[in-house]
Amino acid sequence: MEVGTLSLLVLISVSLLSISLFPLKHKTKRSLYPLPPGPRSLPLTGNLLQLGPTTQPHITFTSLSKTYGPIFSLQLGQVTTIVISSQEYAKQVFTNHDFALAGRHEPDAVRVQSHHEWSIAWLPPGPRWRSLCRICTTELFASQRLDSYVSLRKQKVQELLNFINKSAKEGTAVEIGPAAFTTTLNLLSRTIFSTDLAGLNSDSSQEFKKTVEGIMVEAGGPNVSDFYPVLTPLDLQGVRRRMDRLVPVLHRAFDEQIDRRIKNREEGSIAPNDLLDVLIDSNLGVEESEFRQSLKSVFGDLFAAGTDTSSNTVEWAMAELLQNPIKMAKACNELL
Ligand code: HEM
Repeated sequence: MEVGTLSLLVLISVSLLSISLFPLKHKTKRSLYPLPPGPRSLPLTGNLLQLGPTTQPHITFTSLSKTYGPIFSLQLGQVTTIVISSQEYAKQVFTNHDFALAGRHEPDAVRVQSHHEWSIAWLPPGPRWRSLCRICTTELFASQRLDSYVSLRKQKVQELLNFINKSAKEGTAVEIGPAAFTTTLNLLSRTIFSTDLAGLNSDSSQEFKKTVEGIMVEAGGPNVSDFYPVLTPLDLQGVRRRMDRLVPVLHRAFDEQIDRRIKNREEGSIAPNDLLDVLIDSNLGVEESEFRQSLKSVFGDLFAAGTDTSSNTVEWAMAELLQNPIKMAKACNELL
């Protein structure tokens, strides 16, 4: 994948994850720290109407960065937003200035069931955030842990290949995005719960997958409540109403897994030593009354942060390769 494309992906992930990357909340701050350059904004809408189609903010951002440089500011309704659109500056944001820029302006969608108060992705950098991060770093992202899941990853990739081969033999078109989404989702659910929660074939149970997809659509899409916080109580687009229905479905699925595991452990079954086992043993460093809620939020975060991002990257890479036969041939040779 080209570096430019990669930085675009980072940019989109950032914009999806945070809606506004660095919203400046106080007017005084705005006057203390001059904003980077940016297009002129209209009094009520700011630059919202200049963003173009909502499915293609990356194209608008690329074109704006050609005029205003790799760091520019936009006024999105009431919210001032800084866009970083070069790989070099994105790297600085995520590494050198990580701590200073870690606080996020949470979209209204993630406030449903107080998710933001328990979420690694949305908590401000404080003791609770640090303790949840530490557990993910040591129990999920540590190289020793990742190495122990190599065979699982191979198995899931093989299942995806089998599905694609079968579709090719039958002459059925394969939608890469949804197939990659299911694969990533099952990789995560196997790592966390030692079970697949979705099937590649359309006839298998799709409720969990549909719920995760629905949550990503609601939390990642533009919501007028986020651009005009004063309108939040009205929930004009119904995002909060739909999230209010989706989040309990996800939590019920997590509760089922947690309850089953606790029962199995009480009955003396052999523990699979997956992430759920590790987290039950770790107690997450929180009070017992808060344990269930914080466990479900960690799982919600991992499924939300890990599925769409990975499957979009695969889909994007495939789209780039299809348009670039030389690189496609090179990639095929490397894989053979
Ligand atoms: C191609 C795939 C991925 C991309 C492009 C991506 C991108 C990102 C970005 C840009 C952030 C924000 C970082 C920051 O603000 O410092 C983030 C945060 C996060 N990602 Fe990913 N991610 C990917 C895959 C995953 C996977 C597979 C998981 C979990 C299994 C995951 C879990 C998380 C979590 C928990 C956070 C929140 C961290 C925090 O706020 O402290 N991501 N990701």
